[in-house]
Amino acid sequence: MDIMVIGAGGREHAIIRALAKSPEVDRIYALPGNGGIAADAECVNVGATDIDGMVDFAKTHGIGFAVVAPDDPLVLGAVDALEAAGVPCFGPDKKAAMIEGSKVFSKNLMHKYGIPTAAYEVFSDPEEALAYLESAPMPTVIKADGLALGKGVIIAETREQAREAVKNIMQDKVFGASGNSIVIEQFLTGPEVSVLAFTDGKTVVPMVSSMDHKRALDGDRGLNTGGMGTVAPNPYYTEAVARTCMETIFLPTMNAMNAEGRTFKGCLYFGLMITSDGPKVIEYNCRFGDPETQVVLPLLESDLFTIMRAVREQTLAQCEVRFSTGCACCVIMASDGYPVKYEKGYPITIPDGIVPHVYVAGGALKDGRLVTSGGRVLGVTATAPTLQEAIEGAYARVQNIHFDNAFYRRDIGKRAMDAAK
Ligand code: AMP
Ligand code: GLY
Repeated sequence: MDIMVIGAGGREHAIIRALAKSPEVDRIYALPGNGGIAADAECVNVGATDIDGMVDFAKTHGIGFAVVAPDDPLVLGAVDALEAAGVPCFGPDKKAAMIEGSKVFSKNLMHKYGIPTAAYEVFSDPEEALAYLESAPMPTVIKADGLALGKGVIIAETREQAREAVKNIMQDKVFGASGNSIVIEQFLTGPEVSVLAFTDGKTVVPMVSSMDHKRALDGDRGLNTGGMGTVAPNPYYTEAVARTCMETIFLPTMNAMNAEGRTFKGCLYFGLMITSDGPKVIEYNCRFGDPETQVVLPLLESDLFTIMRAVREQTLAQCEVRFSTGCACCVIMASDGYPVKYEKGYPITIPDGIVPHVYVAGGALKDGRLVTSGGRVLGVTATAPTLQEAIEGAYARVQNIHFDNAFYRRDIGKRAMDAAK
């Protein structure tokens, strides 16, 4: 079967590599893919939010299955459009993608169904939000309702920063219409855990847990980024925590979405914080995480295509989803200056033996050579029996990869190692 994967980053590269292992998969197209993905799939010049373009391409190329990976096409209804055109898809429809598309929706869902999360208030009037802030405890967390390229969450230490955030989001509309409403929520503390789960609306199967490193600099300092590295599994996600999450978060969320007439089929991402009061939901995403996918899928031993098809057909309960008992690490090599300002166009050199362990996030082909084309450039990974070996393996590979202006954190996995001690 010929299939297509929508998206252009390291996550999509990891998904494509995993799908390519399936005996049922013939040709893989990436829409639009990138210069690195081009080694593993046929890249097609259709943007990830060009829904008409993807439907046309699927119809003219006899696509038997589509995987919609990024949040924006899912929230815009790409799965609805493809399915309506007769193309079976992995990914939630527009109604279900709302769990990520609107923070107001997801907070109200958790409140209505008793799913543990930070206490919150919703505002659509900036004056009311500002008045509320005068007596709100600090620090506080301010979240734009809609999608904001991962930048819509502001942790305000002081009342002044909080006022500033409300003005930027609601009055100056730095995130556009995504800031028409906001959530102001309680600041929680505790280690964070990412859990991606396959769900078909009847069964929920969590994948191996992982830990993201969102800050740009070592020691979790600097600006928030799309993620500078990941390890799996996450040592804070013990068996006891996993049981609690299944009972109080995963199953209740699946059931809540069903009760709302928004059955979720796809990969549901639970961003969790393990507080002194138990695990709580920090955020839901309606898709695979990036760069979580780059450590989770290399540990998947079962056939990803078979699982994705079972999710769509709601037969996940009969499907084998087995992970290796090993560990994985992904170190993001970025362009110096990311996430603010950085130069692009530098040639990338990756030794052949390492190529299969590198997922390209921001690479383009120029005169047949891979060059940097984004902030996050490469996800360099390793799997091993222990976390320490996986971390050492990933960094050893990083040492052998070169491009000008490369920048990466030196401490990916350190917190996980400390926790495991
Ligand atoms: P998000 O963009 O939703 O992934 O949020 C970015 C980061 O903000 C999360 O990974 C957390 O570290 C932090 N965060 C979000 N909500 C809270 C909260 N209620 N309390 C503390 N930290 C939070
Ligand atoms: N790594 C966090 C995300 O994919 O949103």
